[in-house]
Amino acid sequence: MKYYITTPIFYPNASPHIGTAYTTVAADAFARYHRMKGDEVHFLTGTDENAQKIVRTAESKGMDPKSYVDGIVKGFKSLWEELDISNDDFIRTTEERHHKVVQSIFTKLYEQGDIYKSEYQGWYCTPCETFWPETKLIEGKCPNPDCGREVEMLKEESYFFKLSKYQDVLLKHIQDHPDFIQPVSRRNEMIRFIESGLEDLCVSRTTFQWGIQVPFDTKHVVYVWLDALINYISALGFPDGELYKKYWPANVHLMGKDIVRFHAVIWPIILIALGLPLPKVVYGHGWFLSKEGGKISKSRGNVQDSFELIRRYGSDAIRYFLLREMQVGADGTYSEDNLVDRLNSDLANDLGNFVSRSLAMIVKYRGGIVPKGGEDTELELEIKALSQEVKAKVEERMGALDPAGALENIWRLVARMNKYVDETAPWALAKREDSKLRLDHVLHIFAEAIRIMAIFTAPFMPKLPSKIFALLGIKEDMLLWEEVDQWNVLAEGIHVEKGQPLFPRVDLSQWITEEENQNVDQEQKNNEQIKTEVKPEFEPIKEEITIDDFAKIDLRVAKILQAEKVEKTDKLMKLEIEVSGEKRTIVSGIAQHYTADELVGKSVVIVANLKPAKLRGIVSQGMILAASQDGVLEVLTVDKDLPGGARVK
Ligand code: MSP
Repeated sequence: MKYYITTPIFYPNASPHIGTAYTTVAADAFARYHRMKGDEVHFLTGTDENAQKIVRTAESKGMDPKSYVDGIVKGFKSLWEELDISNDDFIRTTEERHHKVVQSIFTKLYEQGDIYKSEYQGWYCTPCETFWPETKLIEGKCPNPDCGREVEMLKEESYFFKLSKYQDVLLKHIQDHPDFIQPVSRRNEMIRFIESGLEDLCVSRTTFQWGIQVPFDTKHVVYVWLDALINYISALGFPDGELYKKYWPANVHLMGKDIVRFHAVIWPIILIALGLPLPKVVYGHGWFLSKEGGKISKSRGNVQDSFELIRRYGSDAIRYFLLREMQVGADGTYSEDNLVDRLNSDLANDLGNFVSRSLAMIVKYRGGIVPKGGEDTELELEIKALSQEVKAKVEERMGALDPAGALENIWRLVARMNKYVDETAPWALAKREDSKLRLDHVLHIFAEAIRIMAIFTAPFMPKLPSKIFALLGIKEDMLLWEEVDQWNVLAEGIHVEKGQPLFPRVDLSQWITEEENQNVDQEQKNNEQIKTEVKPEFEPIKEEITIDDFAKIDLRVAKILQAEKVEKTDKLMKLEIEVSGEKRTIVSGIAQHYTADELVGKSVVIVANLKPAKLRGIVSQGMILAASQDGVLEVLTVDKDLPGGARVK
């Protein structure tokens, strides 16, 4: 089956935060889950760049809008990378592929009489990018409960889109498709809104030029919401692209509750007017609120740096917290202490502890070799039945777009397994000669349960399965959803390791005292904390090789003669180096960590006999060695007088 899921495209007027991250993390969990189920998935996210508020923010910073958004978009992309977001595409509405589709749709709607020219006189809220009639304002301010800011009077020539013409067709579609708008509270809200009567929508602006020009009347730019919604098909190459033919209509448009109205009214009407099929589900989740109650948002000044949070707690823990905390149809509360509580209780105490305890016992009692399973007792039968029930529940909850419900069910199995450890008391079995087979069976069940937990949690915490599988000594091709309720999967005699705790307990006060200590240089203190108190998560050491394997790699010192960033990329640096009297070009993904000036003159270490590869059209003849950990990257250098070409071994 095909599965096309989208997030809203985000306004790059400010950096992303933990609230905005929720939609993307949730969409990612659904995408990963469907991939594991064998579906063909297309997962789209991106940025909504043609807004008036972008122009305003850029102006206030003395920048042109494009350079301003380019910087912020980089931040979005790197946050998604840090959070292991597995999107298949990232659309920016400043891209040509998007512009041309918006222009052709605008023209088509105009030519068929659904868009007409008139004049807009009324109010506009720039932070919300929304037109408001006088009657809707509350005390002269924006009526959006999350906004309440000043609105501006507009009086300008505009094009209008005939929403009213399609009101009845849309209502009928909503009534005939009970799953179209979810959850049901949002559906009811939308039905009431449409029944109260739709007004034609102003769809162009003339007071600024940033955006997509109306092709037949170039002093107009297309209203940002009409432009933005079209991203869901422009990114697929509408109308002729293969992706469009394969993936449209979308299975799910996921978003926060504040923007359901645009997706459940304006977007379907655009599609109906174009004669295109409608998305299957428009799902509006709640917001993350701060402890004090307001929505987490940049404008309220209650956001924490997401990168810093990831550094402190790891991306899996952040993802788990977000997905577990937002209940269907409700808002979630974000605070760092909630996050730490969840990490310590659900991840360190429940899941992490089960894994460490049971692996430690396999190591202690059977030298790390997982024994063959034996006879099931009532206990094991109950646990196996529970795993089947949990699988069915997780599938049902994921189908209902409820990751919190899915995780809640998975944790029933985690809790049951912790209880099983106490019930079976392997330490007592180990003391009795006649319990040898029973102990074998219990330890076997432990190992299978660990594998099962890795599979269950994989859509939610993508880093975890490979860590668990490394401890079990098994390959990632065993991460199979269909085996999540099977208990005789591990090959006989596999060798497990105890390893480090998967989720070390965290003490929030280590950060709080730091923040309270006003007298100490904050940044220096942060760095110290990171070095001394966060346990870095190291990649597992790879399988053993022989000295002959190693000797195949020809490592050499190389002098960097020139360096320049590869155009239109974030990460790539093109380097001219000198090795053994010969000049070479190497393209290296280090541009986010070094400037060109910092690199020129360095003596680095390269793999000199690596088969050349083309990167962005440039042939790279070798690879520079670099070490990295937790987002910090440093190239390997030699520090005295060795010439380029000297052998490294
Ligand atoms: N650009 C529009 C969407 C266009 S889609 C065709 C937009 N962008 S946004 O950046 O303001 O918001 C994007 C999404 O982030 C919305 O779904 C919004 O609900 C979500 N969130 C922003 N803050 C949030 C929380 N504090 N909690 C949960 N989601 C939040 O709207």
